[in-house]
Amino acid sequence: MQKSYSDKADKLRSFKRSLKRYVTGSAFCFVLMLLVFSTITTLSMQCAYAQDTTQVQPPNDTANDATKDDAANADGQATATTDGAASPELIAQGKELFEGNCAQCHAVHKKVVGPALEGAEARWGTRANIINFIKYPQKVIDGGDQYAQKLYAEYQQYMPNHDFFTDAQVASILDYIKTVPVPTAAVAVAGGGATTGGETAGSSNSGLLLGIVISLIAILLVVALVLVVLTSVLSNYLKREKLEEDENAVITQSIFDFKAFFTSPGFIGVVLFVLVAVGAKELFAGLWTIGVQQGYAPTQPIKFSHKLHAGFYEIDCKFCHSGVEKGKSAVIPSANVCMNCHGEIRRGSPEIQKIYNAIENNEPIQWVRIHNLPDLSYFNHSQHVKVGGIECETCHGDIKEMEVVQQVSLLTMGWCINCHREWDVNAKGNNYYDNLIKLHNSTSKEPLKVEDIGGLECSKCHY
Ligand code: HEC
Ligand code: HEC
Ligand code: HEC
Ligand code: HEC
Ligand code: HEC
Ligand code: HEC
Repeated sequence: MQKSYSDKADKLRSFKRSLKRYVTGSAFCFVLMLLVFSTITTLSMQCAYAQDTTQVQPPNDTANDATKDDAANADGQATATTDGAASPELIAQGKELFEGNCAQCHAVHKKVVGPALEGAEARWGTRANIINFIKYPQKVIDGGDQYAQKLYAEYQQYMPNHDFFTDAQVASILDYIKTVPVPTAAVAVAGGGATTGGETAGSSNSGLLLGIVISLIAILLVVALVLVVLTSVLSNYLKREKLEEDENAVITQSIFDFKAFFTSPGFIGVVLFVLVAVGAKELFAGLWTIGVQQGYAPTQPIKFSHKLHAGFYEIDCKFCHSGVEKGKSAVIPSANVCMNCHGEIRRGSPEIQKIYNAIENNEPIQWVRIHNLPDLSYFNHSQHVKVGGIECETCHGDIKEMEVVQQVSLLTMGWCINCHREWDVNAKGNNYYDNLIKLHNSTSKEPLKVEDIGGLECSKCHY
C-alpha cells in the first residue's frame, strides 16, 4: 500500500519538476533570443555606420556635363530615388556624405551657418532643382532664381559648390535628411541600446527593438498565465482526491522555489551572459568611436575670438597659423604674434594682460588643443592647403563665425578616406601632375581623384 502512495507522489513530483524545467527553460530561451536579436541589430547598425561609401557609384558619365546646369538632365537621374523609400544603404551613405561635407554648416533641425535643412526639398519644388542648387549654388543665385536670391540676402554668403558629387550622391543626402528625427528626449530613451552609434540609425533600430522586446514579454506573460491556470486546475482536481500527507506536501509546495531558482546554474548563466554581452557591445561601440571628438570646444585660457580677429577684422589665417603652407602643422601663434597688435591695442584689458604675463614670465600661453589625430596617423597641412588647394573651412567649418573654436569634422579614418575618394586632384598650375593626368585621361573618363594618386594607401597616412 505504502509503496503505491509514494509512487503517486513521485509521479507528481516529477511532473512538477518537468513543469518547472519547462518554465525556466522557456524563460531562458526568450532571454537568449532577445540577446541574440539585440546583438544582431546593434552590430548591423554599427556596420551600416562603419561602411564607407564602398557602394559603387552608379556609372555617371553625365555628371560633368551637368555642369551646364541642365535641370532636365539632373531630373532623369534624381527621380529614381524620389519615390519609394530609399534603401538603408543609401541612407547610410547619405549620412556619411552629410557628416563629411555639410554638417559643418548645416543641421537638419536648426540653423547653423546655413539654413536648417528640414523641408528644404519642398521649398525648392522639385528634387532636380534642389540638387542643382546644392551642386552649383553660386550659379543658381547669380542666375536670378528668386528664392535662391532671398536665401543669399539672408545668409550673405555663397555655399561652396558641390559639383564633385554625382546627382545620386546628393539624392542620398536628401534621403538621409528626411530620416533625421526631431531631436527630443525620446531619442535618448529609445536609444538606450545604441548610445554611441549615431542618433538616427540608433533610434529607428531601437524603436524596432523595443517593439520586439514588448511582444516577447507579452508572449512570456501569456505562457506564464496559461501555466498558472493549468497548475491551479490540476491541484484543485488533486485536492478533491483523498491523498496521503506526503502527496499533499508535494501539491501545496509552490512550484517556484525562488532560492533554488536564483542559485540554479541556468539563472547564473543568463546573468553572466547578459553582463558579457553588454560589456562586449559597449567595448565595440567605444572602439569604433575611438577618439571621435566632433563638437569639442574647450574653454581657452584667453578669450580669443576668431569671429573678431579672422571674421570682423579679416586677419588672414596664415598671419597667425604660419605653418599651413610650409609643413605638417598649422602652428598656433606664440604670444609675440599677438604683440604685433596688442602692444598697442586694448592694453588695459584683463584678457590682454594675460598675454603680457605670458611674455614676462617667459611661459607659453597654455592653449587647449582641439584637433588631435592619434600618433599613428600622419596629416600634413601644406599638402592639403597649398598643393591640394583646399580651403580651411572645408575641414574646420566656418571659423570666421566662431567665438570659441570647435571641431566640426569627424577626423576619423573614414572621413579622410571619403574625401580622398571624391576629391579631384588640383592640377592647375602644377606641372608635376601634367603627365599623370594625360596618362589617367587615356584610361578613364572620371577626373583624377586623390585615390588615383595613392591617397588610399595605408602607408601614406600611417607611419
Ligand atoms: C561652408 C558652409 C556650407 C556647406 C559646407 C554647405 N552649405 Fe548648404 N548652405 C550654406 C548657406 C550659407 C546657405 C544659404 C544659401 C546661400 O546663401 O548660399 C546654404 C543653403 C543650402 C540649401 C538651401 C536651404 C533652403 O532652406 O532652401 C540646401 C538644400 C543646402 N544648403 C544643402 C547643403 C548640402 C546637402 C551640403 C553638403 C553637401 C551643404 N549644403 C553644404 C552653407 C553651406
Ligand atoms: C590673430 C591670430 C589668429 C588668426 C588670424 C586665426 N587664428 Fe586660428 N587660432 C589662433 C589661436 C591663438 C588659436 C588657439 C586658441 C583657440 O583655439 O581659440 C587658434 C586655433 C585655431 C584652430 C584650432 C586649433 C586646435 O587646437 O585644434 C583652428 C582650426 C584655427 N585656429 C583655424 C583658423 C582659421 C581657419 C583661420 C582663418 C579663417 C584662423 N584660425 C585665424 C589664432 C588665430
Ligand atoms: C592684426 C592685429 C591683431 C593680432 C595679431 C591679434 N589681435 Fe587681438 N585684437 C585685435 C583687435 C583690432 C581687437 C579689437 C579691439 C577692440 O575691440 O577695441 C582685438 C581684441 C582682442 C581681444 C579682446 C580684448 C577685450 O578685452 O575686448 C583678445 C582677448 C585678443 N584680441 C587676443 C588676442 C590674442 C591672444 C592674439 C594672439 C594669438 C591676438 N589677439 C592677436 C587685433 C589683433
Ligand atoms: C583637409 C583638411 C584640412 C584642411 C583643408 C585644413 N586643416 Fe587644419 N587640421 C586638419 C586636421 C586633420 C588637423 C589635426 C592635425 C593633427 O592632429 O595632427 C588640423 C589641425 C589644425 C590646427 C591645430 C594645430 C595643428 O597644426 O595641428 C590648426 C591651427 C589648423 N588646423 C588650422 C588650419 C588652417 C588655418 C587651415 C587653412 C589654411 C587649415 N587648418 C586647413 C585638417 C585640415
Ligand atoms: C576635403 C578633402 C580631404 C580630406 C578631408 C583629407 N584629405 Fe588628404 N588629400 C586631399 C587631397 C585633395 C590630396 C591631394 C593633394 C595633392 O595634390 O597632392 C590629399 C593628399 C593626402 C596625402 C598625400 C597622398 C599622396 O598620395 O601623396 C595624405 C598622406 C593625406 N592626404 C592624408 C590625409 C589624412 C590623414 C586625412 C584625415 C585626417 C586627410 N588626408 C583628409 C584631400 C583631403
Ligand atoms: C587618408 C588617410 C588614411 C589611410 C589611407 C589609411 N588610414 Fe588608417 N587611420 C587614419 C586616421 C586619421 C586614423 C585615426 C582615426 C581616429 O582617430 O579615429 C586611422 C586609424 C587607423 C587604425 C586605428 C583604429 C581606429 O579606428 O582608430 C587602424 C588599425 C588603421 N587606421 C589601419 C589602416 C589600414 C590597414 C589602412 C590601409 C588599408 C589605413 N589605415 C589607411 C587615416 C588613414
